[in-house]
Amino acid sequence: MNIYHRLVQKEATLSVIGLGYVGLPIALAFSKHFKVIGFDIKEERVALMKQGIDPSKELEAADFNDCNISFTSNYHDLKNAHFHIIGVPTPIDNHNLPDLSYVLSASRFVGKVLKKGDYVVYESTVYPGCTEEDCVPVLEEESGLKVGVDFKIGFSPERINPGDKEHTITSITKVVSGCDAVALENIALVYEQIVKAGVHKAPTIKVAEAAKIIENTQRDVNIALMNELSIIFNRMGINTYDVLEAAGTKWNFLRFYPGLVGGHCIGVDPYYLVYKAKEYRYHPQVINSGRFVNDSMGFYAAKQLVKKLIQAGRNILESKVLVMGATFKENVSDVRNSKVADLINELLSYGLSVDLVDPFASAEEIKREYGFDLIDAYGQDYDAVVVAVNHQPYLTLTEDDFRKMMKGNGKGILIDIKGIFRNNIKELTYWSF
Ligand SMILES: NC(=O)c1ccc[n+]([C@@H]2O[C@H](COP(=O)([O-])OP(=O)(O)OC[C@H]3O[C@@H](n4cnc5c(N)ncnc54)[C@H](O)[C@@H]3O)[C@@H](O)[C@H]2O)c1
Repeated sequence: MNIYHRLVQKEATLSVIGLGYVGLPIALAFSKHFKVIGFDIKEERVALMKQGIDPSKELEAADFNDCNISFTSNYHDLKNAHFHIIGVPTPIDNHNLPDLSYVLSASRFVGKVLKKGDYVVYESTVYPGCTEEDCVPVLEEESGLKVGVDFKIGFSPERINPGDKEHTITSITKVVSGCDAVALENIALVYEQIVKAGVHKAPTIKVAEAAKIIENTQRDVNIALMNELSIIFNRMGINTYDVLEAAGTKWNFLRFYPGLVGGHCIGVDPYYLVYKAKEYRYHPQVINSGRFVNDSMGFYAAKQLVKKLIQAGRNILESKVLVMGATFKENVSDVRNSKVADLINELLSYGLSVDLVDPFASAEEIKREYGFDLIDAYGQDYDAVVVAVNHQPYLTLTEDDFRKMMKGNGKGILIDIKGIFRNNIKELTYWSF
């Protein structure tokens, strides 16, 4: 009997290693069909999941209904599993180089419990070649087994989009790949069990790895173009969002918008490709230029605000700014690699004082990641307000609401990073990307 049928018959068990934004929904989806072990190194996260709480705050308690997952932080428990899925972080280090420590450590755990006939599928985003060249040697060394002969591997990139309830694990076509035809067939069967949208069988693991990395690289480069256009149009006194609205009426104009590119995917994955390209003696120019532009936008927005304050005759050292939104994107709680931090640090470096609010972010995480204090309620004494993230509760704010936040007689500056209010502000000094 193949691994798929053994999983269906509950004679084999599936494990998910790393239960974050990616791993937990996968574990929950599979648990409706198979026996599942969910493993994470963070005991406190495992304790919450055992109570039906998603530590990443993406899933509701109801999503845990009928879930039959054996949650654990003890890797020895993985020896009872036969089909392992690895979904641990693949961040970059301080020099924008791939940090493979998590994916290698997860490979070590799995390697220690690997048995003949087992499968290991990586879902973490990596550069082409990482699974076979970096991870497989660890699996082989720890297990003493041989890939292709004793165990099979595959790569199936994750495409979920935090905060998006429409594009979920079951509704997005899943790219799958395997180390040989048998592996590909079985991995496809396993994922077809949960992905209603079906699977796409990539011819090799490297193709699947490359496909994922270019999905995010393409977005990054396109957003960088929009950001560069916004710098140009700002000098010309033209609103970029107005330009994009007009250009967007053409059938083949691509809909991308300027903004702060943070998080652990779009702003990170291109660096993985850049790193690997250099091994092949190619120094990517377009990808790196995009990264440079996007990584500069937080500082750029802060400088525009400082200019506006000076033009308004405000004393910078006495000015107070309210920043609304701290997360890396709208309607999520994730603050990692948020470019709002660049904006705030730049404002602080000019000597401004800054208040920060966010209805989704955790004050504790903000403090830990960036050292900023998140306040519960904003005041009424600001010289400027920056709406940095287009969180749902902010979308209905009116000019009057902003005026009430400003000191004195309600005159002040509104920096609207996402251009939400551009048609509704008449009296405040207004700026957007
Ligand atoms: N979040 C997304 O939207 C998204 C989308 C597509 C792809 N990805 C990719 O998926 C991967 C995982 O991302 P994420 O957002 O779920 O990360 P995450 O930080 O939310 O979760 C990762 C989990 O892995 C655990 N972990 C770390 N090292 C471990 C180890 N050695 N063994 C077991 N558990 C370990 C952590 O404690 C954490 O709970 C990354 O490669 C990311 O690029 C993420």
